[in-house]
Amino acid sequence: MLDKNSGSIWIDGEFVPWQEAKIHILTHTLHYGSGVFEGERAYNGKIFKMTEHHQRLHDSAGMLDFKIPYGVEELNQAAENLLKLNNLSNAYLRPVAWYGPETLSVSSLRNSVHVAIAAWKWDSYFPADHKGIKLMWGKWIRPAPTMSPVQAKANGQYIISTLSKNKAELLGFHDALMLDYRGYIAECTGANVFMVKNGILYTPIADCFLNGITRKTIIELARTSHIPLVEKHILPPEILLADEVFVTGSAAEVQPVIQIGEQEFEQGSITQFLAGKYRNLVTRGIDD
Ligand SMILES: Cc1ncc(COP(=O)(O)O)c(C=O)c1O
Repeated sequence: MLDKNSGSIWIDGEFVPWQEAKIHILTHTLHYGSGVFEGERAYNGKIFKMTEHHQRLHDSAGMLDFKIPYGVEELNQAAENLLKLNNLSNAYLRPVAWYGPETLSVSSLRNSVHVAIAAWKWDSYFPADHKGIKLMWGKWIRPAPTMSPVQAKANGQYIISTLSKNKAELLGFHDALMLDYRGYIAECTGANVFMVKNGILYTPIADCFLNGITRKTIIELARTSHIPLVEKHILPPEILLADEVFVTGSAAEVQPVIQIGEQEFEQGSITQFLAGKYRNLVTRGIDD
């Protein structure tokens, strides 16, 4: 129960006791989804790709036409201080920026901008004996870049993810695999997707969904490991013929997929190899 936690939350430059970290009911972002956020992990006290996450928070805000009043370096400092203050080593961090309650006009031009970072202990997203995740086909599709600022990690866009993930959990799956507006494979509700066929790694072109920091890290790890990588549009029948499928995200890390709809998959050697590489990188800072 996150709301029952203790410790501090960084809000607008101050450390506030967890139980006092509250916002007004007329907060613009609560009504219109007009905010941006990040999800990042700390391993052994060090936040993985911290600057990239805080830069993305700024970039996402820019796509929503607002400016975060704290620079990337200030956010880095705040996040690091927060970990120390809360005595956290392995943790999840949630920076968020939102519009205040001054007006409830759909326009946000007259609303103040606020920023917070919360952090809490987080060892692993899945239990140790976990073999992989089961995906169902999502009903909701990722919109075109002309319909929504698709590259922004904007909270208003997550209704598609929330509906899809709710449905998946209710039906006994871990997550939903979503298509885009053209019918190509897009991503899961909070993770990007990769597949392996005949020793080649494939991933959808990130032209209408979040180009995840973990996705980019895996692409780089594949490159340094000489695993051929192709970014291309992938249709559903292609992924069902894959030898291996896995998803990537700051929360999910590198997760083997063992089922999509009715189709089952083995946990493959390239997935295991890249998952091991990723773990080394996040925990020890090395790509060996
Ligand atoms: C919709 C969506 N796609 C992909 C990702 C993976 O992004 P990252 O690897 O930067 O965590 C996330 C998680 O932030 C997400 O919410």
